[in-house]
Amino acid sequence: MKTDVNDSPAMPATVRTRLDIGFGTREQWCLAPATFTDETLKIAGHPVMERWEGSYMGRLAGIASAAGGSVLEVGFGMGISATALLADERVKSYTVIECHPGVATRALAMLDAEMARMRARLMVGFWEEVTPLLAAASFDGILFDTYPLTEADIHQNHFAFFPEAFRLLRSGGFLTYYSDEATGFSREHLDRLWGAGFTDVKFDVCELDTPADCEYWMSDTMIAPIVRKP
Ligand SMILES: C[S@@+](CC[C@H](N)C(=O)[O-])C[C@H]1O[C@@H](n2cnc3c(N)ncnc32)[C@H](O)[C@@H]1O
Repeated sequence: MKTDVNDSPAMPATVRTRLDIGFGTREQWCLAPATFTDETLKIAGHPVMERWEGSYMGRLAGIASAAGGSVLEVGFGMGISATALLADERVKSYTVIECHPGVATRALAMLDAEMARMRARLMVGFWEEVTPLLAAASFDGILFDTYPLTEADIHQNHFAFFPEAFRLLRSGGFLTYYSDEATGFSREHLDRLWGAGFTDVKFDVCELDTPADCEYWMSDTMIAPIVRKP
């Protein structure tokens, strides 16, 4: 576990691939089909999720469920982190927010049994519109993993969520998320966490088996943030 700062340079290739694919409106995102294979999820031409991230998702799930209780996930994707969260019996209640109707339909199918026993619930919509409906200090852990829906959000779509995460977490609760940082927090990243009120900020460096042809990540490590509400 480390706490140092790393002002690593941006990764232009992973930005370029997304600019080349292009970004539409939020409505277009929701209207585009979600195409699943065993290994990948694509929406509107974007490589949204790939199964090689499984071990990293497992680490994020371990952090989000460290305090047990009530866990919020934002972004269902292929349900890899969801599966890891729900495998942890310390998690008594699981809430997931997902904006894409095709992904939400898949979530309904995957969560069927857990929803039947009232352990899981699905909220369909963009987190920006859904989380204001949730009470302050109502979660013990949060796992945030969405996807940039605009050019400005590439590699930093998690930043805007930090103040809302602070509001939603109970004291002592954990926030973690797909960090988009290879070896440490950038100065801007840390400033955004501190600005939201998070002072207990650590991370693990996770080894990754990144495929050579991955369009959105090119390093063989990524940090797993361990951010605790005081
Ligand atoms: C990278 S995937 C999540 C992967 C997931 N952690 C897994 O293990 O399979 C991102 C998901 O977030 C959803 N998403 C993107 N922006 C969102 C937003 N603003 N609110 C809610 N969901 C969003 C996408 O539709 C997509 O299903």
